[in-house]
Amino acid sequence: MSDTITAFAPASIGNVAVGFDMLGLALTNVGDRVQARKIDGATVTLAEVRGLDGEIHPYLSNNADENTASIAAQALWNEHGDACGIELKVHKGVPLQSGMGSSAASAVAAVVAVNALLEAPLPAEALLVYALEGEKYASGGLHADNVAPSLLGGLILCPRVLLPDVVRLPVPKGVSAVLLHPDLQVNTARARRRLAKSYSMAQWLEQQGLLAGFIAACAASDIDLIRKTLRDVIIEPQRSAAVPCFAAVTEAAKRAGALGCSLSGSGPSIFAFCAESEARNVASAMEHACRQQGIGCQSWVSPMTAPGARVED
Ligand code: HSE
Repeated sequence: MSDTITAFAPASIGNVAVGFDMLGLALTNVGDRVQARKIDGATVTLAEVRGLDGEIHPYLSNNADENTASIAAQALWNEHGDACGIELKVHKGVPLQSGMGSSAASAVAAVVAVNALLEAPLPAEALLVYALEGEKYASGGLHADNVAPSLLGGLILCPRVLLPDVVRLPVPKGVSAVLLHPDLQVNTARARRRLAKSYSMAQWLEQQGLLAGFIAACAASDIDLIRKTLRDVIIEPQRSAAVPCFAAVTEAAKRAGALGCSLSGSGPSIFAFCAESEARNVASAMEHACRQQGIGCQSWVSPMTAPGARVED
């Protein structure tokens, strides 16, 4: 077995509008890479963190106590590692504070790489609790809606009450996800602290109905029901004002045929679900609307069946 392993973990859409903290979707073609290497010593160290441009990251330090990758890897190594240490190199592919599960992708790639160095690697599902240790540090809460899809791929239901168990949901046929990342940042931990702490019975009933309907719609590939249910009546209204292009981008997406759209995680990224055949048009419309607001952006189109993290070596 090699003493150096690299793993890739995809970005993800947190909440998916209807499932605050409990529903997440993996994306393709965007994610973080972590290389793990056995070294002398007893702990997990962080040799370097590189950014999107391949250069040493200007903001993320290589203090192992302050990075989701090393925190998650250390949690796994404490329980299952051997007498040596681990050195990590993190290469960010997911923009920071983007609502695309950046901290989760680092944590997941780290545990997947370190797992492959264990004498008896664990099944992917068993890595969730360790990756969550990293995510907890970053966002200040225990929610798996980025970690679980990044680790396992696809559309994952992961309510806190069931953790560490999660449920892989069937995905609707012929539907794609479009993710637009405006060149803005939202700090998730801060955005979470600002949320109202209590909600009315009417709001609870409405959101619960939407989530149940959406899951049923996915299982039945019922496009009309997806259109009716892909809505967030509780969290999105509290957060969308922090993303100045939100109204313009979501209106453009809907005009171009999107079934529904919302913030990805705490934003600023915005996602839409649409028919596969319309995904490129929807992405272009969203990008155009965002740039018209004077905000640069990038977008990705992804199937609903994007794979989870993988070892690359
Ligand atoms: N679900 C979290 C939130 C972010 O919206 O605050 C992603 O884990």
